[in-house]
Amino acid sequence: MTHLLYIEASPRKKRSSSIEVANVFLDSYREHHPDDQIETIDLWHQDLPPFDGDIIDSKYAIMHGQAHTEAQRKAWRAVELIIDDFKKADKYVISLPMWNFGIPYRLKHYFDLLIQPSYTFSYSPNEGYKGLVTGKPVLAIYSRGGAYGPGTGAEGFDFQKSYLEAILKFIGFTDTRSIVIEPTLATPELKDQTVKQGKELAASLAAQF
Ligand SMILES: Cc1cc2nc3c(=O)[nH]c(=O)nc-3n(C[C@H](O)[C@H](O)[C@H](O)COP(=O)(O)O)c2cc1C
Repeated sequence: MTHLLYIEASPRKKRSSSIEVANVFLDSYREHHPDDQIETIDLWHQDLPPFDGDIIDSKYAIMHGQAHTEAQRKAWRAVELIIDDFKKADKYVISLPMWNFGIPYRLKHYFDLLIQPSYTFSYSPNEGYKGLVTGKPVLAIYSRGGAYGPGTGAEGFDFQKSYLEAILKFIGFTDTRSIVIEPTLATPELKDQTVKQGKELAASLAAQF
């Protein structure tokens, strides 16, 4: 059974533009793929262990080719479960607001747990860095208060889309699709218009996803 993983990064729930558009995508996806399984990770209710202590020591042990201590092995298991849950999916949808020109800290925390040598990327002197999550599509649904598209003069401040695309590429994604909802905070009319366009695009993208 095909397994779609939906990762939700806004805490605004019923008021969230990125979630509103993602829900249209998921409803349309269910209609077109009734047998697929959809799993949701709400990053604001997901247990994300702090990346410190034995967990960070475990990461460095892997990078230096050292065995884990018993305490590190136990702590690292929580990271492995998060990675396993992510990697078992066949398709991905991520909805996210822009926060201070970048991504919300819960999503960054999730990536800090997820992106690990020999799990989601590898490195060798001959081949350099190689992503290990390959052959799977991802749709990112971005929402932002301002406008950052070509001609706005603010293109250089968009570290939300540029960062997400870079990190996904680093771990192996090559089929990256996107919906951008902006500006949501300029006027109510402009917000309604961009959310409406986002929903139309979401509904149409779901059929081919
Ligand atoms: C903590 C925080 C920081 C924000 N920073 C920015 C920003 O740097 N640029 C911007 O255009 N909008 C910013 N916004 C506005 C949100 O990106 C905007 O309201 C977006 O539509 C929220 O998406 P959501 O409704 O899915 O949560 C920020 C909002 C919050 C809560």
